[in-house]
Amino acid sequence: MIKKLQDRMDELDRSNLLRQKWIAQSQTGTHQLIASADHASANNHILFCSNDYLGLASHPDIHDALKKGVDLWGAGSGASHLISGHMEPHEQLEIMLGELFAHLIPDNRCLTFSTGYMANLAVMTALGDSNCEILSDELNHASLIDGIRLSKSKVSIYKHRDYENLEALLKKNNSDMRLIVTDGVFSMDGDQADLSVLSDLADKYDAWIVVDDAHGYGVLGDKGLGSLENESRLCERIILIGTLGKAAGLSGAFVIAHQTIIKFIFQTARSYIYTTAALPAISFALLASLKLMHGNEGRRRRTQLRSLEGYLRDGLSSLAAKQPDSKFRITESSSPIQGVIVGDAQRAMNLSLGLHNLGFRVPGIRPPTVPVGTSRIRLTLSADHTAKDIDCLMDGLTILIKNMS
Ligand SMILES: Cc1ncc(COP(=O)(O)O)c(C=O)c1O
Repeated sequence: MIKKLQDRMDELDRSNLLRQKWIAQSQTGTHQLIASADHASANNHILFCSNDYLGLASHPDIHDALKKGVDLWGAGSGASHLISGHMEPHEQLEIMLGELFAHLIPDNRCLTFSTGYMANLAVMTALGDSNCEILSDELNHASLIDGIRLSKSKVSIYKHRDYENLEALLKKNNSDMRLIVTDGVFSMDGDQADLSVLSDLADKYDAWIVVDDAHGYGVLGDKGLGSLENESRLCERIILIGTLGKAAGLSGAFVIAHQTIIKFIFQTARSYIYTTAALPAISFALLASLKLMHGNEGRRRRTQLRSLEGYLRDGLSSLAAKQPDSKFRITESSSPIQGVIVGDAQRAMNLSLGLHNLGFRVPGIRPPTVPVGTSRIRLTLSADHTAKDIDCLMDGLTILIKNMS
């Protein structure tokens, strides 16, 4: 067995698909100390890969709340939610999130999880079964895909954001239960699902929409409520998943939907029932984070983020326009996630390593995370970045791309 596993990893290595971890030796932020590959030294890098979009992971109010949460509620929760692990901060967090979304998802309840991965498994496995038809965007996140596979539902994959293709698939089936499943903001391209169009389709074909808004929640909308906030038309058949380890700066996730759906997930989802509840101190600190995120401080940070996004995209667009190489293009993003597609895995990894050597952390993204031929570097911005950080990155990229074969 050991030899077979080694052979498989050697094959991944030959295809430039072997993964590597980098050890951070300081807190996350726009700059981070990262150990060299041989661990002999550490260098300061400008980070363009964290999902801490608002910079809240380093906010002192949240640090203080986390410490106070430990003082009040101890370290671990000690048990799963349905045994004795569900504590007052977990309950308060669910109430607060439910109220924030009450005008968008009426008659709702909220359920929290320790990660977005578990939340997605819970939703898909609780609601899906062999009588259910799931219609899933081809670029949905891996955790949705895994949940769908585990659910044993009938599955149709529609082309990315191609809602005519989706409608053709909806016309073809007449299952009792239909779920349209989509990321709100797509994690590797940074583009957005059109929830108005999906709402029309859901109403017309008696379907429900599952929206994983891991990258939209806290980032989009004046209040930071994410993809749902600015939609001109939104149906009531929405099951929303949001994560709390990205813009909210801590960890965890939530699901908000009509109360009967949430009660059913609570009763049946194995990734809710059979796991230890998250640290209560995290829920306690999340209450502080949500107050910042949905108030003026969050608004100020979102405005700053939007202006940095425009600045980065302008720079990348003019760089792309100068490239004769049609394999080099930037993704059609409208979020702080920006992909720069370069073609094959080796080119993406060379670019990522070149940037690393110049002092930038920008991961290369390869299949199976993205489709073959669309390997890329993936840049993410934080409200704490400066225009100067972006200028330095653009200088580095310009040199590397010029020399790229
Ligand atoms: C779109 C999307 N959904 C879900 C997740 C999983 O969330 P978590 O990291 O909290 O497990 C991620 C990434 O982490 C993601 O990008």
